[in-house]
Amino acid sequence: MKDSNFLKEHNAKSLWHPMAHPGDSLANPPAIITSAQGVKITDIDGHEVVDAVGGLWNVNLGFSCQVVKDAIATQLDVLPYYSTFRGTTNDKVIQLAEELRTFFAPDGLTRAFFTSGGSDSVETALRLARQYHKIRGEEGRTKFLSLKKGYHGTHMGGASVNGNANFRTQYEPLLPGCHHIPAPYTYRNPFNETDPERLAQLCLQALEDEIAFQGAGTIAAFIMEPVLGAGGVIPPHKSFMPGVRDICTKHGILLIADEVITAFGRTGSWSGSRHWGVQPDMMATAKAITNGYFPFGAVMIADHMTETFEKDTTGKAAIGHGYTYSGHPVGAAAALACLAETQRLNIPENAAARGSQIHHGLLALQHKYELIGDVRGGHGLMCALELVSDRATKAAVDKKTIGKLQEVAYEAGAMVRVSGPNIILSPPLVLSAAEADTILSALDTGFAAVS
Ligand SMILES: Cc1ncc(COP(=O)(O)O)c(C=O)c1O
Repeated sequence: MKDSNFLKEHNAKSLWHPMAHPGDSLANPPAIITSAQGVKITDIDGHEVVDAVGGLWNVNLGFSCQVVKDAIATQLDVLPYYSTFRGTTNDKVIQLAEELRTFFAPDGLTRAFFTSGGSDSVETALRLARQYHKIRGEEGRTKFLSLKKGYHGTHMGGASVNGNANFRTQYEPLLPGCHHIPAPYTYRNPFNETDPERLAQLCLQALEDEIAFQGAGTIAAFIMEPVLGAGGVIPPHKSFMPGVRDICTKHGILLIADEVITAFGRTGSWSGSRHWGVQPDMMATAKAITNGYFPFGAVMIADHMTETFEKDTTGKAAIGHGYTYSGHPVGAAAALACLAETQRLNIPENAAARGSQIHHGLLALQHKYELIGDVRGGHGLMCALELVSDRATKAAVDKKTIGKLQEVAYEAGAMVRVSGPNIILSPPLVLSAAEADTILSALDTGFAAVS
């Protein structure tokens, strides 16, 4: 390996980082992480911290999950690649599809379409939604509805249904026919409604209103995250997703659950849809499906949709979509091991317990520090703090303050993620109570330094 001076001198020099300004990466070089164990990461200077980001919402089982590593290593020796395009398949992907079918049976999902990651999964679900309606003779159903503040990856379709200008403006024009509904975000919303249940009803009314305006017969699907994640961890009231389900069913609109971060235990339930008692028509998954060790994803498809595709005799159901790495045997082997380990450890249980511990700890910090305008969480290990410079006006905190806070928290033992005015916490789901306390005390030190 190159020595540390070389790495520091060349940091961000010959690569552009995702979700960052290239100039900013040069001015403020990113932390160089060189190793990891358990839920801890170590940087180039040997500084070890608890990773409260969990890789990027994906390393649910931590960095030392030996069964997943072994599955990958073994599969590389046996069959490192073979395609699943028409005419061939591989043993691991068949096994995985069967396992996923059992795992997602309570969600009503019985078929898998494999991808290389979250954005691919979203794109796949959007495409299959349009195709489903075309096969059924409803060619006019091409539009998509989604939530403001939602995050659905960065492919052109995904960016078009994204509800955050940061991922849209510089890439416009995006896909036509994508329309957005207010998110059930109690801290800021166009209705000035702070009661979660009433806000959920207002957002549902807005959805009904948009459907009436667009015409139900023009809409293919509504896509939503069961708990909005990257947009700042926004858990809706429990009535919201069931309400969306009812409205979609009433109007023949498919419901796509974007569970790229919520599937496999993050919310304290096995899936975010199950958390709210909803069966979606499609579910986009990725990330934790391989514990982040291999780029992989799966779109799960509802049993009731299968006949339309499988019994089609017109040829319209031929899937003109897929990736070289769809059903990659190494990814499939990793996913099989990961699924077994996730179930063996009953991972949602710890996610719920540690999530509640962190959520309560954050509420205590809010009493201590004026900078904390809003605390969001309470549904597994996904929490956020929204920082404001003034609680009365809710003016967002400046970049320098939140940057300093992150830096001090890192020095004090935790890597936390800053996204706009939010600090987002999504640690591995195997986090211990002591490690959760480390995150909270590092944040406390960070806030003390900037308050
Ligand atoms: C809900 C959601 N959908 C889609 C994506 C995109 O996934 P990927 O970055 O693997 O393409 C993400 C990534 O964070 C996500 O959180």
